[in-house]
Amino acid sequence: MDFRIQVSAPGALAGLTCDALLLIAVGDAVDATLDAPLAGALSDAVDQGDIKLKAGKTIYLHRPAGIRAPRVVFAVAANASAKAFKAAVVSGINQIKGSGAKHVAVGWAGTGALSDAHAEALVTAVKDCTYVYRHSKPSAPPASTIGKVTLLCSKADSKAAQQGLARGEAVASGVALAREFGNRPANHCTPSYLADQARKLGKDYGLKVEVLGRKEVEKLGMGSFLAVAQGSDQPLKFIVARYEGAPKSQKPVVLVGKGITFDMGGISIKPAGEMDEMKFDMGGAASVLGTLRAVAELKPKLNLVVIVPSCENMINGSAVKPGDVVTSMSGQTIEILNTDAEGRLILCDALTYAERFEPAVVVDVATLTGACVIALGHHHSGLFTADDAIATQMGTASLAALDPCWRMPLDEEYGEGLKSNFADVANIGGRPGGAITAAMFLAKFTGKYRWAHLDIAGTAWKSGSAKGSTGRPVPLLTHFVLAQAA
Ligand code: BES
Ligand code: MN
Ligand code: ZN
Repeated sequence: MDFRIQVSAPGALAGLTCDALLLIAVGDAVDATLDAPLAGALSDAVDQGDIKLKAGKTIYLHRPAGIRAPRVVFAVAANASAKAFKAAVVSGINQIKGSGAKHVAVGWAGTGALSDAHAEALVTAVKDCTYVYRHSKPSAPPASTIGKVTLLCSKADSKAAQQGLARGEAVASGVALAREFGNRPANHCTPSYLADQARKLGKDYGLKVEVLGRKEVEKLGMGSFLAVAQGSDQPLKFIVARYEGAPKSQKPVVLVGKGITFDMGGISIKPAGEMDEMKFDMGGAASVLGTLRAVAELKPKLNLVVIVPSCENMINGSAVKPGDVVTSMSGQTIEILNTDAEGRLILCDALTYAERFEPAVVVDVATLTGACVIALGHHHSGLFTADDAIATQMGTASLAALDPCWRMPLDEEYGEGLKSNFADVANIGGRPGGAITAAMFLAKFTGKYRWAHLDIAGTAWKSGSAKGSTGRPVPLLTHFVLAQAA
C-alpha cells in the first residue's frame, strides 16, 4: 500500500481526484472553512438526522452533487488529537474498505493542524484495518481494494506529516509481522519457524543473527530454559539478532521476548477451554522481532539487540515435574513449583545472557500472567520497573505510539512468597498480585543493568469473534527504542 502527502488548499476538496474522500470532522458544528458542496452535503445529512456530530459517527455519501470524488465519508472525531483522529480514521476506513475504492484521500473536514503523530496514526490505522490473515486460510476474502492513501495537509504541516508517514509505515510493518507470527498456529509457528524468520530478517535488513540450539544452551548453563524445553519434541531455539546503527562503543538497547510457541502448562496442565489461545504465548517474541524490523527500516543511530528464548511448554516422559530444582545460568537455583509458570523460567536465563552486551537498558516483553489480565484488562500492558527514568520514557513512548501501558508496583514485600526451602527461589509466589510476583522473580536476574518488564498477557491478542494477534506492543517499543537515539 502506497501512502503519500498531498498539499491541498482548504476549500479545494470538492475538486479532488480520488475514489473515496474520507473527511474527519471535529466539533459539533459543520466547519465554516469546508468548501461549499461538502459543507452543504454534511449540513443536510445533519439536518435530516442521518448523522450526529458525535465521536464515532460516520456517514457514507455516494456520488454527492458537486463533488468529484464518487464516494465521500465523514467520520466524527472527539477532538483534534492524534488518538481521536486515529479512532475516526478506523471507523471511516471500515466504511470504505468494502467498496471498490482503490485510492482514498484523507483529511480534516475543515481546518485542523496535522502533526507527525496524526500521519503515523493514519498509516497504522489503515494497515491494521486492512490486514487479513490467510496463511492457513487462503480462502479468506481480501479486506479491501485500497492500494493508495493520500493524506491531505497544508504546506506548513507537510514536513511533519511526511516524517509521520515514514514512521507509521515502519511501525505498521513491524505490527503486521508480529500479528502474522502470532496468528500462525503452533504447528506452523514453531521455535524453528521463529528462528528461520529471524534469519530472514537478518538477510533482508543486513542484521547479525545467531541461533543457538540445545548443545550451546547447555554449554551456557541455561538449566532453567532447558527445563521448560525438555518436555517437548520441538527443538528449542535461542535467537539473538543485532541491529548496528551506531559505533560498537555505544551501549545497546536490549529487548527480550518470551517465545513459548505453545503453552499447555506442562505437568501443571491448563484447562481445555481456550487452550488454543496459548499459541499466542510467543507474543513477546513476535513483538520484539516486529520492533527490530521497524527499527531496521528507520535506521536510527543506535544499537539494538533482540533476544528470543523459544520453545514449547509441553509434556512427555522427560518433562520437568513440580518440585524439580534447576540451576539457572545466573547460578541461582529455582524450585519449579508450577510448570505453568514457564515464561519466567525461559526469560531469566535470557536476562542473564543479556549481561554480555553491557546494555544501556533491557526491556523484556512477555505474555506472562493471567493475573495481569485481571489487573489491567485488555487496554494497558503492565509496566514494571524500579527505574523512574525508564518509567517516564515508557509513559512518553506509550502516549506517542497510542499503545498504552500502566506502571505497576515492585515493592520488595511482594517478593516474600518466592521463598523456597529447597532452592534459592521458587517460580511462583501465590495468587495475590500474581503479575507483580512474576516481575519480582525476573528482577532477581536483572541486577547488572537498568531494566523494565512489560506483561502483555492482556494486550497481545484478542479473543472471541475478533480472535487474533494485535501486534502490540510494537508501536510502544519502537517509540521507546527510537527515543534512545535522540
Ligand atoms: N502464558 C501464561 C499466561 C497467560 C495466561 C496469558 C492466560 C494470557 C492468558 C503463563 O505461562 C502462565 O501460565 N502463567 C500462569 C502463572 C501461574 C501458574 C503462577 C498464570 O497466569 O496462570
Ligand atoms: Mn504457562
Ligand atoms: Zn506461558
